[in-house]
Amino acid sequence: MTAPAPIVDLTDVEAFAAGAHREMFRWLRATDPVHAHVFPDGGRFWALTRYRDVVAAYTDHRTFSSSGGAMLGGSFRSREDTAAGRMLVASDPPRHRLLRKVMHHAFSPERIRLVQRQVELLVDAAVDRLLADGGGDFATDVAPELPAGALMAMVGLSQDEAHELIGMTRRMIGFRDPVLVEQTSDVRLQLAGIQADIFDFFEEVIRLRRHRPGDDLVSLLLTATINGRPLPEEEVLYNCMNVAVGGNETSSYTACSGLLALLDHPDQSSILLRDPELLDCAIGEMLRWSSTNAYVQRVAVRDTEIGGRHIRSGDSVTLWNVSANFDEDQFDEPNVFRVTRTPNRHLTYGVGIHRCIGATLAHVELGTLFARILPHLPRMQQAGEARRLRSNFILGTTSMPIVMI
Ligand code: HEM
Repeated sequence: MTAPAPIVDLTDVEAFAAGAHREMFRWLRATDPVHAHVFPDGGRFWALTRYRDVVAAYTDHRTFSSSGGAMLGGSFRSREDTAAGRMLVASDPPRHRLLRKVMHHAFSPERIRLVQRQVELLVDAAVDRLLADGGGDFATDVAPELPAGALMAMVGLSQDEAHELIGMTRRMIGFRDPVLVEQTSDVRLQLAGIQADIFDFFEEVIRLRRHRPGDDLVSLLLTATINGRPLPEEEVLYNCMNVAVGGNETSSYTACSGLLALLDHPDQSSILLRDPELLDCAIGEMLRWSSTNAYVQRVAVRDTEIGGRHIRSGDSVTLWNVSANFDEDQFDEPNVFRVTRTPNRHLTYGVGIHRCIGATLAHVELGTLFARILPHLPRMQQAGEARRLRSNFILGTTSMPIVMI
């Protein structure tokens, strides 16, 4: 007897929080790989679920534009939106190439070394607290130190300022989660309010850096030129926001999913403990397993066909990393967590011209954290169920009690 079809609703944040999306995607890949999600008002978006279709769309930026923003129905959705073409992630060539060249300087090897040193300091202190207290909430007490370290070293913020900003981006990304944001009848209005707070925060940083420039990201954007012209202040703001929103939740939520995976798979933890040289490889598998950035959105700018389905110019198309990363045609036993997995061409950072500019940085942050906690892993245990973020865009953990035994 064949298993009954699961209820497929890619906008159901509760299903994602419950982990039911894996079964949804398994079914979609097998029976409806280019899926049309239709809203009650008749609007729709397409969902690509197979590895090969997702890669093909990522790498065809002539057909699929990024100017509608990466997130469905969230921020910067319409092409008329002011972020289009101004924020790195929401821009298309040729502007994208020029902006990326400017932003690249903020991710230099020297800067990444500074981030590493800062993250080391914060993580050391957080892990010491965890050990001294006999446990704590890894999701709130330890993991946020990764983006905090990055913001301190890249933007020149104090630790308190970094955490204030992380609080805001956490609410922005988690705007459908009642634990983070009170749910009202107009969530879009609320989301706009949170974005305005983030802009206010950066406006103040810009004011300070104009007065006293440094060698941080904001000063870099303020002095950068494209085709001989400085970036308009709005563009500086949008790209500060892009770095904060792109880096704050992703690396810390991946740290939580990575630790959960190790605790859930003691055999794999033992392999890693026996051979810590495998850490890089294990982080690759944590990234695939967590698929923290579940999807990105594109807008078709010309008619095209994928898997026999006709996509019209103007249609919204979502590329599901979290499905492609578990595609049986690409990965051997995709539902098995294996710290030794090679090759592992996961799509968690995307691929193509928009591939995550912070990927090396994120890898360094995660490597620093796991190198520090690895020796304590045998004494770590979950002290209650982890709570998942209510989101279909970023797969995260809002609470994860840990006890040291
Ligand atoms: C585990 C951690 C991370 C994950 C899973 C992740 C995921 C992604 C993905 C999937 C994209 C591609 C978006 C698209 O194609 O539309 C992206 C782009 C980007 N990410 Fe990350 N990211 C991570 C860490 C970071 C960090 C640490 C930063 C900055 C400090 C960052 C900043 C950005 C920016 C600015 C872009 C836009 C790049 C472009 O459009 O050219 N990310 N990221």
